Amino acid sequence: MLSPMDIKTATLNGVATIEIARPHKKNALTAEMYSAMAAAVRAADADTAVRALLITGQPGIFTSGNDIDDFMTRPPSTPDAPVFDFMRALVACRKPVVAAVTGAAIGIGTTMLLHCDLVYVSDEARLAMPFASLGLVPEFASSLIVPQLMGQAKAAEKLLLGDPFTAEEAVEMRIANAVLPAGEVLRHARRMAERFNTLPPGAVRDSKQLMRRASVERVLETIEVEAVIFGQRLSSPEATEAFSAFFQKRKPDFSAFE
Ligand code: COA
Repeated sequence: MLSPMDIKTATLNGVATIEIARPHKKNALTAEMYSAMAAAVRAADADTAVRALLITGQPGIFTSGNDIDDFMTRPPSTPDAPVFDFMRALVACRKPVVAAVTGAAIGIGTTMLLHCDLVYVSDEARLAMPFASLGLVPEFASSLIVPQLMGQAKAAEKLLLGDPFTAEEAVEMRIANAVLPAGEVLRHARRMAERFNTLPPGAVRDSKQLMRRASVERVLETIEVEAVIFGQRLSSPEATEAFSAFFQKRKPDFSAFE
């Protein structure tokens, strides 16, 4: 169930903020939260009072990714599931999106950054895309974009081995713009988002569209292809072992799988 407080939205001084606020579950994202985020992105895009969007989390945690309990009990097994709708809403957003990565960003916590325009990361944040480790496959077109950004070798470390990485590495690997002290990242990201108030909004929108024009069709097609395989993998014995191990607080054992 979505508590009304799990996703908080507010528009202030031309910036529509989408705040992930489920700290007791490390901001894990449920189907209802994805629906709320998709609606918030579309509403902000349509609101003439909004010049930029700001996505943020809680002190020490951006998001721990998809809620693993949701993965087990009501998996997003079709392309019209809320998680995929959120992906399409973010990809289609015409206005600049700024991310304040206030802490750990796991799974979609990292891959959503690939679709933001400006990304600022707390110096205490750890990022990771442990899809394969969970018996899953990359999503949000990360199988396309991550190798393009950092090359196949680094991409294999992050997407196959699932190695976590620091905020500095996120900047080196071109996922993020800058590393900020934990206490300053949100303020800095908000300041950058507010800069769009002084710029001509039509020119910014057209520029963003042009910057993404060559890749947007591929990105959307990749999201669809990934979604099919992701949906199949969610019910695989490998994923079941990984999810069970997470909740049982033990290491998963994949030794019996071929
Ligand atoms: N889905 C569901 N519940 C989650 C969750 C997730 N993605 N991430 C954290 N939680 C829950 C934990 O089960 C725990 O619940 P409990 O208090 O009822 O036992 C609570 O949130 C706190 O998490 P915990 O693991 O104890 O916090 P931590 O500070 O030790 O570690 C993380 C934080 C983010 C490193 C760790 O929670 C984690 O690795 N989460 C899973 C990340 C992941 O694999 N996401 C899926 C990517 S596709």
